[in-house]
Amino acid sequence: MKIGMLTSGGDCQALNATMRGVVKGLSNNIDDLEIYGFYDGYKGLIYGNYRLLESKDFSGILTVGGTILGTSRQPFKLMREPDENGLDKVEAMKNTYYKLNLDCLVILGGNGTQKTANLLREEGLNVIHLPKTIDNDIYGTDVTFGFQSAVNIACEAIDCIHTTAASHNRVFIVEVMGHKVGWLTLYAGVASGADIILLPEIPYDMDKIIDAIEKRHKAGKGFTILAVAEGAISKEDAALSKKELKKKRAESKYPSVSYEIAARITEKTGSEVRVAVPGHTQRGGSPCPYDRVLCTRLGSAAARAIMDGDYGNMIAMINGETKRVPLEDVAGKLKTVDPNCKMIKEAKTIGISFGD
Ligand code: F6P
Repeated sequence: MKIGMLTSGGDCQALNATMRGVVKGLSNNIDDLEIYGFYDGYKGLIYGNYRLLESKDFSGILTVGGTILGTSRQPFKLMREPDENGLDKVEAMKNTYYKLNLDCLVILGGNGTQKTANLLREEGLNVIHLPKTIDNDIYGTDVTFGFQSAVNIACEAIDCIHTTAASHNRVFIVEVMGHKVGWLTLYAGVASGADIILLPEIPYDMDKIIDAIEKRHKAGKGFTILAVAEGAISKEDAALSKKELKKKRAESKYPSVSYEIAARITEKTGSEVRVAVPGHTQRGGSPCPYDRVLCTRLGSAAARAIMDGDYGNMIAMINGETKRVPLEDVAGKLKTVDPNCKMIKEAKTIGISFGD
């Protein structure tokens, strides 16, 4: 059996752990296994940059973050466009696949990666997708690998801010990754006891944020912690058209939404506000134990699907069980936080403000 494997898009802590699960699952059950690792995501598949790997290459990497194959962003919307030398990328990927006589391509990545995996499926290739992203925004799986590891890091960052904020009686904003969704901010915010949590799914009202800070102040609490998603948006901005919003952001003097919120709080309350941005630390380091288990299970289930010859699926985790979900049912969809979900209601019950 000949398997191709690649990791694409932004990295996370648990890519190696997942590849290890797939390879262990296959090599433990198949004698004549060849694994071709493509370098730097789809780039390696397009330009034929790969290496024949052995199962021992996947040993000792359960705890190692990043990806032994390297990764890159190859936007889905450009996949059908020729490269700078006129190369048809989709045809090039198919040629590499057929030249190597692969039985299947195992593709680890987020939403954009998944769309290209589905495109390759439509083009007739056997593919299996594994849902990676710290953003947890892949539709059709309860959880993505990388998410819990990132929650741990973001939570630790807010924990550290807590002690200094309390000592100085300051308002602090911690900006959390997550692209257009608020999963990471919601979980890290609740886990670290943030007082105000701002998510892209719940456009915020500046007056409500000020009310929440003042309420704490009146209750004798000198500091306030805001966990703000990088994609958080004000009510006013949410009402703008895409074009108007793009223009407004291009002209903004603030590097990100958190700095704008900080300036508004200072304007209205006169309080000092500090902004902390943990940024890419949230994607780094070793996968947490939860992710190691998740990846081992997803990887093993992917190996089983390959041995069954059941292709064209994402291997998902649903209600604690691994499931094969057809790519055609999920590609192009985004899993967002439901503003009316129980978790948000429960958080509001204990006094966390969502700025709405
Ligand atoms: O999708 C993962 C993610 O870390 C997002 O949370 C973030 O918006 C983005 O990638 C950052 O991308 P880059 O690594 O290209 O700066």
